Parts: sequence; C-alpha cells; structure tokens
Amino acid sequence: MLNTAVLVSGGGTNLQAILDRCVEGTLPEVNICAVISNNPGAYALERARKAGVDALCISPKAYPSREDFYDALIQALEERHTDLIVLAGCLVVLPGKLVRAYRNRIINIHPSLIPSFCGTGCYGLKVHEEALKRGVRVTGATVHFVDEGTDTGPIILQKAVEVREDDTPETLQRRVMEQAEWKILPEALSLISQGRVSVDGQGHVHIAGEA
Ligand code: GRF
Repeated sequence: MLNTAVLVSGGGTNLQAILDRCVEGTLPEVNICAVISNNPGAYALERARKAGVDALCISPKAYPSREDFYDALIQALEERHTDLIVLAGCLVVLPGKLVRAYRNRIINIHPSLIPSFCGTGCYGLKVHEEALKRGVRVTGATVHFVDEGTDTGPIILQKAVEVREDDTPETLQRRVMEQAEWKILPEALSLISQGRVSVDGQGHVHIAGEA
C-alpha cells in the first residue's frame, strides 16, 4: 500500500475526489494515512473526519518559529510512514529539506496548463483571472511533482478545459475543477500507486503502459 498524506488549506474538493475514489474501490493501492491542514478552519478537515481518515491541524501559529512548524510537519509525516505527499490546495510553501527528503514523492495540483499562469503568487482565483485577462481559449489543470521551485517540477498529467466567452473567474474555476482537477489528481495517484510513473534524468515523466 502507498501511504499517502494529503496536505490541504481550504475547502478540500480535490481531497474529496480522492476520498470518493477510495470509497469506490478504484484506488486499491492507496491508504490515506493523514490529512493535514495548516488552517484549523479548513473544511477539508471535516471531509477527512467524515471519511474516517486521520485529520490533523498543524498550524504555524502554534509554533515559536517556522523551523519548529516544519519539524512538526515532518515528524507527523514520518510517524505515519508516509510514502507520498499530495498537495491538494495546500498554501504552505514546503521547506527545502522536506522536498529533498521526498524527491519525486510530492505531487501538486495546479489549476492551469503549466507553464502558463503559474509561479509565485499565481494561485487560487488569480490563475483564472489571468487566463481571462490574456484571452486564452483553452486552459486546464496540471499535476506535477514538487521540486524546489514554484510549479516547476516534472509534469505528470495535464487536462485541457475550454474557456467560454461569458466566463467569470468563478465559473472558469469551477469548470476547471469539475472537468480537470477532480479527474487528473486521483488519476495521477492511481498511476503512482501502481508503480507506473518514473522521472528520467531530464526531469521528464514516463508512464508505463502508455504509448
Ligand atoms: C484548487 O483549485 C487547486 O488546483 C489549487 O487550490 C484549489 C484547492 O481547492 N491548488 P480545494 O480545496 O481542493 O477545493
């Protein structure tokens, strides 16, 4: 089993998509070992509890320094023998030592087709505002491994979503979630849990069994 910790900060609809697949039995190799939020009010914690999953809040506010907060986070992950970390709407920037310890074992979902509309400060609704401002006809979502940069790690899956003339950032955000994020995040998890995903020396992802 792949012990998977999901890190969240907000509503947790991406977490829900994963939990639903676990209940359905279509992620048989995945064990959600913890859902961890930096934000005590995150509805994602409620979703985890309802699903009977270990839900905990590790807030930077509860620690004297950033270092202590990171150490608590790392300890919680190690105690649960975490194999894979999924960032599902997690607004915490992970420390370099965690990224190095979990090289190619941390995945993130970003609501655009990377390298468009990503990087420092480009998250949440802002991504969709920028896409509409630029007038793109197609946007989408990307699941990638996390490296030391912001949204720069190896790309695992992407899915395109049409932009409509009358879209607002909110309607576009919703369609990107429904048509792309909630599908490709569980799908990436499924592929990784089956041992089908590898990263080569150029930082390119290969998926075994795909042409
Ligand atoms: C999603 O749009 C995700 O792509 C981004 O943060 C949002 C989280 O939404 N990283 P939710 O908490 O999963 O509902």
